[in-house]
Amino acid sequence: MVDQSCFYERIGGQTEIVKLANQFYDVMQRDSVASHVLNLHPDDLTRSRKRLANYLCEWFGGPKLFGKSYVNPEWLKLRHQHLNIGLEERDQWMHCMTTAMRELNYDPDLQQELTNAFFEVAGFMRTRV
Ligand code: HEM
Repeated sequence: MVDQSCFYERIGGQTEIVKLANQFYDVMQRDSVASHVLNLHPDDLTRSRKRLANYLCEWFGGPKLFGKSYVNPEWLKLRHQHLNIGLEERDQWMHCMTTAMRELNYDPDLQQELTNAFFEVAGFMRTRV
């Protein structure tokens, strides 16, 4: 696993992580290439936006906004096990995240390191081939 503990500061703390989660879901709602992954979500993405921001905040070494420290890949996998996630859904999720980071003008080195970390976890979320 990539060491994500210093990403919190490098991204710019909680405010920037909230922006990233929102941009991620804005891209998902906007880009038709992400339609499968969007269809897995509820119509109202308010809760999804907040949960993603909270998760990333803690995962990247910031405050534990989930209340309890559940944040680890096994916990996250359990929360995705009812979903139909294959390579296509993984790649659509990654499209939204890499586009969001690019649109928020992340430093290219940071973008690459985060992409590697996200890719590892997104692959782990797959529930089918
Ligand atoms: C690989 C493709 C992925 C797909 C298709 C996917 C899809 C979903 C869906 C449909 C939900 C439920 C949303 C809701 O009910 O509000 C969800 C929840 C969530 N996802 Fe993902 N996800 C993926 C990968 C990831 C990754 C890589 C992360 C983090 C790095 C992540 C973080 C979360 C979090 C924190 C939640 C809320 C969990 C909870 O409290 O139940 N997901 N995801």
